[in-house]
Amino acid sequence: MQSQMNPLSHHNETKTESTEFEKNRQRYQDLIASFPHVKGWFPRAPLIEYSGHWIIEALLEGCLHAQDFFQARPTDFFVCSYPKTGTTWLKALTFTIANRSRLEDSSNPLLYRNPHELVPFIEMEFAYFPQVNVLKDKGNTLFSTHMPHELLPKSVVKSGCKMVYIWRDPKDTFISMWTFFQKQNSNSGPLHSLEECFDKFCRGFSGYGPYLDHVLGYWKAYQEDPDNVLFLKYETMKANPLPYVKRLAQFMGYGFTSEEEKKGVVEKVVSICSFETLKNLEVNVGDQKRHDVPWVYYPNSAYFRKGKVGDWHNYLTPEMAARIDGLMHEKFKGSGLLEHDQ
Ligand code: A3P
Repeated sequence: MQSQMNPLSHHNETKTESTEFEKNRQRYQDLIASFPHVKGWFPRAPLIEYSGHWIIEALLEGCLHAQDFFQARPTDFFVCSYPKTGTTWLKALTFTIANRSRLEDSSNPLLYRNPHELVPFIEMEFAYFPQVNVLKDKGNTLFSTHMPHELLPKSVVKSGCKMVYIWRDPKDTFISMWTFFQKQNSNSGPLHSLEECFDKFCRGFSGYGPYLDHVLGYWKAYQEDPDNVLFLKYETMKANPLPYVKRLAQFMGYGFTSEEEKKGVVEKVVSICSFETLKNLEVNVGDQKRHDVPWVYYPNSAYFRKGKVGDWHNYLTPEMAARIDGLMHEKFKGSGLLEHDQ
């Protein structure tokens, strides 16, 4: 759903050799055809059930491929999220933390590439565009996924690699998703109305949904293995990013030295990855698209809308808000999630 790419396009038109993914694609498509389908948020993009989660076909193919072939190494680090909860921000932060020797260089890749080019999705780039530089670079250890924790490739869990998860108030997550989809340039047909999509979202029918199950899955993983899972919340980070960026760096094994702290390096990381900075970079303005993949659904600018907490007030009625808040409290009751300092 978050897909940058346009995987439904004729993705092998310009390639001569077929990839592992292409070789297996028919098998995935046959399997997917046997899974339950429901109407999605677009007329021509049904949601397909896989192990209790709803995913659009192209991304589900990518998930199956990642499950079969993605080999995580213990040194890999995963940015995990439900779409529209702060993925782009975390990609920028993890990349910047790990590459901060170039922080102030004019060659800092973050200045001329969208964060999604720097930290690849295992169910998207890994499947559809294995030729991108970041995947060919064996030194790259940063990966990302929107896959629910239960669906992660076995090697990700077995290798013991670390992951950070971010979640967000479901009301803002929904609005961010619905407005994002309006910018989609695809052949899926016109996006359904806000009311219709909201009802689907509440009933669990959204890409990678149910959203609340997605959050709970990673929350449980965090509870079981807090050394390997960092659990963050968009709103808390937004209110005061500094301590969370320090915690993230420490967790990644790239903790800031006291010398760096004195020099204000943490503040610089926060600043370069801030919504305002990234949104205004030339690469993320207007119709600019990423250059490393041939097809994209969205311009880079679509990933930077308002970056605010509580924008849902401009879209949802109090009844709608009460509905989703009630579902959230019911779902998270007794889990400790809402009481946790994230
Ligand atoms: P809004 O639509 O509410 O503005 P994702 O990266 O998971 O797709 O999430 C996108 C949401 O994060 C959008 O929210 C976007 O504006 C916001 N966002 C993008 N970059 C950000 C940043 N650096 N800091 C804070 N929020 C950011």
